[in-house]
Amino acid sequence: MSEPGDDVLEALRALGAEVAELLRFEHESGGIGLLEHPIHAERDGASERTARPERVRRGSPELLAPAPEGTAAAPARGNRSSALHEVESLLEASRRARARASPAPIDPAPADVSREGERRVALATLAAEAAACTACRLHESRTKSVFSRGSPDAELAFIGEGPGQNEDLRGEPFVGAAGQLLDRMIEAMGLTRDAVYIANAVKCRPPNNRTPQPDEVRACAPFLDAQLDLVRPRVIVALGKTAAERLGCVVEGQGWRGRWNEYRGIPVMPTYHPAFLLRSPEMKRPVWEDLQAVLARLRAAR
Ligand code: URA
Repeated sequence: MSEPGDDVLEALRALGAEVAELLRFEHESGGIGLLEHPIHAERDGASERTARPERVRRGSPELLAPAPEGTAAAPARGNRSSALHEVESLLEASRRARARASPAPIDPAPADVSREGERRVALATLAAEAAACTACRLHESRTKSVFSRGSPDAELAFIGEGPGQNEDLRGEPFVGAAGQLLDRMIEAMGLTRDAVYIANAVKCRPPNNRTPQPDEVRACAPFLDAQLDLVRPRVIVALGKTAAERLGCVVEGQGWRGRWNEYRGIPVMPTYHPAFLLRSPEMKRPVWEDLQAVLARLRAAR
């Protein structure tokens, strides 16, 4: 039977789970960034260093999952106020971490409604043109073209390589495993997937997920150029070498990741692709450093 206050406890647990998700990307990227102290997670039975801060240990995902009442994770009702206090202090720590990580929202410029409408119509028209495009061989095997995801008002855009199988079926970029990791990276930045703009260098899936060929990237270039001209994000993140090359961030013989470039006057940070991070999780740390630099640049742009 439920008791008064159970719903509050449930709501706090749900919020706690959200915080845990934020912390998870931190764990995986080496515990840098949002938290003041390193976190050393115990995952898959492999215990790393143990000196993690008391508050973080209390807020670990294991503790936030519902557990039978009366166990250490679910205090008996007599301890409810101390449990609430614990969750509240965790949430407060998370709020402070988010405030440090996420740029303060800026007031939008006074809306020019007709220009705004025209911009949206222009983006929708481009998407329809991409769906009918036959400029390169990739159209022959596509199920759906994949134009964009997220907000056309975004300050931050992520540009990937090209759709994979899931994206080709859904007609939306970054919805597969790499997309889920990208969503976690975006959340760890204190942003949401709907608040950023996401697109690819090519709009149709290359067969067997091969890298798009240079002539395919060139054939699709007018779409991405027009998208970025219409959205005009303050900062772009290029995910992987294909996107980095497309946005002019690669000089042969030089390292390309983590170096600021410019594309049509917009700062671009090239970093590793989330699909690469799935295969090489040790590279999450440099990527997280790149994303921190992006957040700093967004703050400075205000
Ligand atoms: N990889 C990409 O580069 N883009 C997608 O949309 C999905 C995976």
